[in-house]
Amino acid sequence: MKRLDDYRLRLCNKDLVPIVIGGMGVDISTAELALEAARLGGIGHISDAMVPTVSDRRFKTRFVKEKLKKYKYNVANVDKTDVQFDLGRLEEATKMHVGNTMQAKRGEGLVFINCMEKLTMNSPRETLRVRLAAAMDAGIDGITLSAGLHLGSFSLIQDHPRFRDVQLGIIVSSVRALQLFLRKTGRLGRLPDYVVVEGPFAGGHLGFGMDWAKYDLKTIVTEVGQYLAQEQLDIPVIPAGGIFTGSDAVEYLNAGAAAVQVATRFTVTKECGLPDKVKQEYFKADEDDIEVNMISPTGYPMRMLKNSPAIGSGIRPNCEAYGYLLDSTGNCSYIDAYNREVERHPNDKKISVKDKTCLCTHMRNFDCWTCGYYTYRLKDTSRRLPDGSFQLLSAEHVFQDYQFSFDHRVALPEQESVTVIG
Ligand SMILES: Cc1cc2nc3c(=O)[nH]c(=O)nc-3n(C[C@H](O)[C@H](O)[C@H](O)COP(=O)(O)O)c2cc1C
Repeated sequence: MKRLDDYRLRLCNKDLVPIVIGGMGVDISTAELALEAARLGGIGHISDAMVPTVSDRRFKTRFVKEKLKKYKYNVANVDKTDVQFDLGRLEEATKMHVGNTMQAKRGEGLVFINCMEKLTMNSPRETLRVRLAAAMDAGIDGITLSAGLHLGSFSLIQDHPRFRDVQLGIIVSSVRALQLFLRKTGRLGRLPDYVVVEGPFAGGHLGFGMDWAKYDLKTIVTEVGQYLAQEQLDIPVIPAGGIFTGSDAVEYLNAGAAAVQVATRFTVTKECGLPDKVKQEYFKADEDDIEVNMISPTGYPMRMLKNSPAIGSGIRPNCEAYGYLLDSTGNCSYIDAYNREVERHPNDKKISVKDKTCLCTHMRNFDCWTCGYYTYRLKDTSRRLPDGSFQLLSAEHVFQDYQFSFDHRVALPEQESVTVIG
């Protein structure tokens, strides 16, 4: 009976453990989590979502305060076109986040950064160019392009000295999206080094419509594999979304996948950035506590716990401090939804916005509890403590459970010793 450890992912002239911990935005996949994956011989991701905010928390910088101070005059203004990111500051924050992470890296594995195209930041091309270039300058091993088709992303960095040596990959949810992307990158003579194929059971934003349940990962992976074979392209394929056990992973590797990308099982590890209280919400969740909705201003469906404080919240848009989802014309669909509700309820001190959420603020505050389909199985991966809460896991434990388990078994952690006082 095969285990995931019987396989290796050949990338970057290395033979890696074929486990990739996926990027989880706004510091849910922390540097600590990514570094553990690298130490254990796999690949970890940090995220480039809201890096100035993350840097403030991690390094006590003042990027957000500075931006808010500059644009404070605009807070009550509906028009957000003025609210621009300072590209120098963005570069500084990215270099600090990435550089410090890479300096701390130990072991044979790699650390990549997840880079979302939908983070349009009121100037999509320029902010993306800065984020990508700064991450490469700071020594990142690889960049995973996500949340978008990224048809112009390679060309933004084609003159960077590391363009051909850094590992570049993309997340797609259909063979069609991959075809479009390859057509563009082919013209630059630079193919991606890997392709993550993400199915409808993933966490975060989904690359499907609200009809996501009609699709299944195995079929899409097969279609992508057939297409690449037909084009004689030898690009490693990495399935993601709902791969919950080592045996699930082995099924994909057996069928020709190069590695798997996983995330949900790591949301309840000590190294994950979610607050401990929120990790308990993930543990406790039952199947019907999870929904896919359209409240993200990106326009993509997003899976989350139904009791996320972000749902129905009607806070004032915080674009002057954040503004990561402002499109190239300074708009965000939450601003429209918020203003509509204010108009409808002019005398209410507190309003509720049901159809959209201020994703920047709520992701920043860990109030949008996005999660994978199998979050309701997390309770079976740990032990209950005497107070009824669940024991947090170590990333090493979860990583090695994927690596060495078989027969769809999930190893429980060693019981934490309880100190009895008295
Ligand atoms: C809490 C959470 C946040 C996520 N955030 C992002 C993100 O910011 N960008 C992204 O490309 N994928 C994101 N994902 C998707 C994961 O990187 C990964 O591909 C997917 O969840 C793997 O499926 P699994 O969670 O069933 O293992 C997120 C997933 C989770 C669970």
